[in-house]
Amino acid sequence: MMRGIFITFEGIDGCGKSTQCELLKDYLKDNGRDFIFVREPGGTVIGERIREILLDKKNTQMNPRTELLLFEAARAQITEEVIKPALDDGRIVICDRFFDSSSAYQGMARGMGMDFVAGLNMAATGGLKPDITFFFDITVEEALARRGKRGEASDRIELAGVKFQEDVRKGYLELAKKSGGRIVTIDATKNIDEIFEEVKQTLEGKI
Ligand code: TYD
Repeated sequence: MMRGIFITFEGIDGCGKSTQCELLKDYLKDNGRDFIFVREPGGTVIGERIREILLDKKNTQMNPRTELLLFEAARAQITEEVIKPALDDGRIVICDRFFDSSSAYQGMARGMGMDFVAGLNMAATGGLKPDITFFFDITVEEALARRGKRGEASDRIELAGVKFQEDVRKGYLELAKKSGGRIVTIDATKNIDEIFEEVKQTLEGKI
């Protein structure tokens, strides 16, 4: 059986990627495609418990290394328990965030180093890489304005501030440049339908 396709969605907080995930899910459903949708951190019983620790606003004393290793631990679990088996069964896997998030958030914004994080990403995934990664690019200002409109409560990572989000974006831009075409950058300031058209066009012939 042919291996399935692994698609990941990335971007700073408030970039609109969750909306695009929903549109892609609907599109695949309407076309009768066999897919699963997961999110990081989480997606497994163990991963969801790790997620609670990571996002809990009370955990102000968390060391950056602890944070990184917890994200990687949750990733190791979902990769083995969910993603690899689904791909082996020939299914499409859509993941809302994957290892590029650790490179951008922990590697760049927390200052742990993108190369250092790349090594841990490898360790956590056993070398599994997404086939296509959509990076929804938007300025921090615009993302904040959108989030403000939705009035969402912030989690521990979102509370890290504007400079932090700017560094996350810088990390993504650097990753996209070096990805050899795996990461497709999409202008996330466009309207929802235009963005989804681009997503669909990129996936055409691949799914
Ligand atoms: P979530 O509520 O899922 O945010 P979003 O809807 O923006 O994806 O929370 C995940 C948060 O964790 C988000 O702020 C990004 C951050 N994160 C990292 O810092 N490193 C990682 O490796 C991952 C997967 C997420």
